[in-house]
Amino acid sequence: MGLKLIYTVDWINNSELMQPTLVSELNEEIIKRTKLPKYVRIFDTTLRDGEQTPGVSLTPEQKLRIAHQLDNLRVDSIEAGFPVVSEGEYQAVKSIANAKLRSEVCALARCSKEDVDVAIECGVDCIHLFIATSDIHLKHKLKMGRKDVLKRAVDHVKYAKRKGITVEFSAEDATRTDLDFLKEVYKAVTKAGADRINVPDTVGVITPKAMYHLISTLKQEINVPISVHCHDDFGLAVSNSLAAVEAGAEQVHVTVNGLGERAGNASLEEVVMALRSFYGIKPKVRTPLLVETSELVERLTGVPVPPNKAIVGENAFAHESGVHVHGILSFPGTYEPLSPELVGHHRRLVVGKHAGMRSIEKEVREMGLKPTKKQLEEITKHVKSLCDKGKRITDADIRAIAEHIVGKLPEEKKAVEIKEVLVSTGNTITPTATVRLVVRGKERVGSSVGVGPVDAAINAIRGAIAEVSKLRLKEYHLDAITGGSDALAEVTVKLEDEEGNLYLSKGVREDVVLASVEAMINGINRYFLRRS
Ligand code: KIV
Ligand code: ZN
Repeated sequence: MGLKLIYTVDWINNSELMQPTLVSELNEEIIKRTKLPKYVRIFDTTLRDGEQTPGVSLTPEQKLRIAHQLDNLRVDSIEAGFPVVSEGEYQAVKSIANAKLRSEVCALARCSKEDVDVAIECGVDCIHLFIATSDIHLKHKLKMGRKDVLKRAVDHVKYAKRKGITVEFSAEDATRTDLDFLKEVYKAVTKAGADRINVPDTVGVITPKAMYHLISTLKQEINVPISVHCHDDFGLAVSNSLAAVEAGAEQVHVTVNGLGERAGNASLEEVVMALRSFYGIKPKVRTPLLVETSELVERLTGVPVPPNKAIVGENAFAHESGVHVHGILSFPGTYEPLSPELVGHHRRLVVGKHAGMRSIEKEVREMGLKPTKKQLEEITKHVKSLCDKGKRITDADIRAIAEHIVGKLPEEKKAVEIKEVLVSTGNTITPTATVRLVVRGKERVGSSVGVGPVDAAINAIRGAIAEVSKLRLKEYHLDAITGGSDALAEVTVKLEDEEGNLYLSKGVREDVVLASVEAMINGINRYFLRRS
């Protein structure tokens, strides 16, 4: 039993993307015994259930922008909204319905003539008609009996069908509905003309095995395509959707980034990639557009995608530990079941305290630097010590550290060494600094004041090393490499000697004064080296 190679990117011409998806062969054993549907429709409800995410509200223009993206992604259906709820929603659904999209455009409607009429007025291709069927909803929400609910469902399916529109019917809270009654409702609505039935796990309360059982049971009774709509209250939305497919469901409701009421719905990107990778079922979705779609929805809804979100999260293809990076560098399949390019993502080797020298070396070499082994060790040590202090290291940090270390003079060529730096500053005292240095093997101490602690420290250096009296500080530049008051400070100084020679040097520390002293001393060492 080992790995199974599945070439999932049949429709992508770029051969570079033809990386195999490596999943366990054990799946295959189970799937062999399952009668899977040939095709699974992707019904995207980002613009309806996704917009019901607490705090999310999209303008009609934003909804149209997302609809175009979903169409470009090639989802089969776009649930554009619930047009009866507001004028803006009505306009949004109407504009999406009139946008000549390839995808089927659907609108949500309760079992009410007004809802159906308004949806039809918008010009949609399909009505998603729903009514609750569980006793909890009947008793506490609808205050109706089962018979009335059944009649209402049938009447409105017939009403919508008479208008010549595709009808998908949902029995809201299906998974908490008495199974016999549920079967009765679904049979009656299909007889009334419903084109598809949808099974909502409205509050995410079913397990994959139970979902498998439910869909298998319905499959025996219903002769129209069956769809599922799973919520993620227990984190099972994707698993339940896949279990439904294993039982024969031909359509799955999904949302981009798993948005939706409460904990959200099954995520589009996870369901699509799982269908392709585990079952060989290939929805039309153009997977390389998944990340950009996720980013667009994140930006417009304002709901951030967690970094550890499968498929599209920032860390989905990021590797930190030395062992993993080693594996990835020799064969990506060791720690990447699917290729990042397949979903429009990119691989990231993150440098953190678990990083090995190899990943730091790769990173640094990609920056065009050629450190020696010793320098590499020093860079790695520096990076890890920052990580141990809880800092998040970025590429810019590594660059600054590496440039600084690679650009440093070898120890034996340094005439000046810093031993100690003391500064005192405040709003009631004059900034004062004392530096203790070793110059060509002899200790020297210098003290001075300045307009600030950096100025005082530089003056103290000048005081300690009389030989640099003619060395002019031509430029001083301070960069905070990353945000935050604990950011790494990178100080660059340009010194000019009496003959006009320039000495550019850097200091990189978490402390601005120390970084400045380091930059000055590095420049002075270069000056001494030249003179000798
Ligand atoms: O979760 C749900 O039951 C729904 C229905 C409207 C289908 O979103
Ligand atoms: Zn829902």
